[in-house]
Amino acid sequence: MMEDGRIEQGLSQEQQLRDDGSDVVFKIALWGMYLVAALMYFATTRISAPFGRHTRRGWGPSMSAREAWIVMESPALFVTALVYHHGQHHLDVVPHVLLRLFQLHYIHRCLVYPFRIRNDGKVMPILVCSVGFLFNVHNAYLQASWISHYGDYAASWLTSPQFMLGVLLFLLGFGVNIWADSVLLNLRTDGLDKSYKIPRGVLYEYVTCPNYLGEIVEWLGWGVMTNSWAGFAFFLCTLANLAPRAAAHHQWYLKKFSDYPPSRKALIPFVY
Ligand SMILES: NC(=O)c1ccc[n+]([C@@H]2O[C@H](COP(=O)([O-])OP(=O)(O)OC[C@H]3O[C@@H](n4cnc5c(N)ncnc54)[C@H](OP(=O)(O)O)[C@@H]3O)[C@@H](O)[C@H]2O)c1
Repeated sequence: MMEDGRIEQGLSQEQQLRDDGSDVVFKIALWGMYLVAALMYFATTRISAPFGRHTRRGWGPSMSAREAWIVMESPALFVTALVYHHGQHHLDVVPHVLLRLFQLHYIHRCLVYPFRIRNDGKVMPILVCSVGFLFNVHNAYLQASWISHYGDYAASWLTSPQFMLGVLLFLLGFGVNIWADSVLLNLRTDGLDKSYKIPRGVLYEYVTCPNYLGEIVEWLGWGVMTNSWAGFAFFLCTLANLAPRAAAHHQWYLKKFSDYPPSRKALIPFVY
């Protein structure tokens, strides 16, 4: 029996996890990710991660920001590929589509974005890079195990309204994130230009951080299209990380630019 085309034999997600009781590692990784989201929110509402405009002394040795981005995000490519191919459903069509979408984001984040940033000589603390690296190992294991092993999607899931809505949100968020990052990157003439300017136009008239808004919408779409606790946990982590950082960026702009548009919000138009 396939009720919604996603999980065969009518098993709910909770039932599946209960039945796979032997897989303690996956369960720890799954519920651990919710703990990470809570800890992340606790930390980021108190301390802005010390990179980019929030770089400051006292965080130990640093490395090139460009290299740090590549290293930090790389597990989302290699751990995902490794774990995915060990899953019992790795040859099925839906896991394959989900894998490609996940990889689409991370090929951009790990192999394209770092070469577009214009901040020669800028550094990131090795500590921040290491925490990001570990987070990505954890998350890549979790998402890849879910889509290729624990989730059990019938091919008809691809034509379900929920899947299509999830893909729409994912691609919309991905597009907004890349566009908004491009606007910021183009504010500098070259890598030697370290100045900050007020970004303007389209979504920037409403919020300070449309790049973060795009990223959050993208992972909300992931949660919707995977219909999973694993996908939702990653969405929560992204929100917990980026909403406080958007607020910190917003305060920074207000302090730095006396002519910063007063009606602009931090992250969500007219709301926050
Ligand atoms: N999934 C997640 O949890 C997560 C976590 C972190 C980041 N990300 C994503 O990674 C990307 C980068 O994040 P980020 O925190 O570095 O973003 P950001 O602070 O908005 O900066 C993005 C880039 O634009 C430059 N920039 C920003 N504002 C500028 C301005 N007013 N004038 C000139 N240049 C400006 C920055 O230079 P500087 O580096 O010199 O400031 C940096 O190179 C974003 O797309 C974000 O969504 C995702």
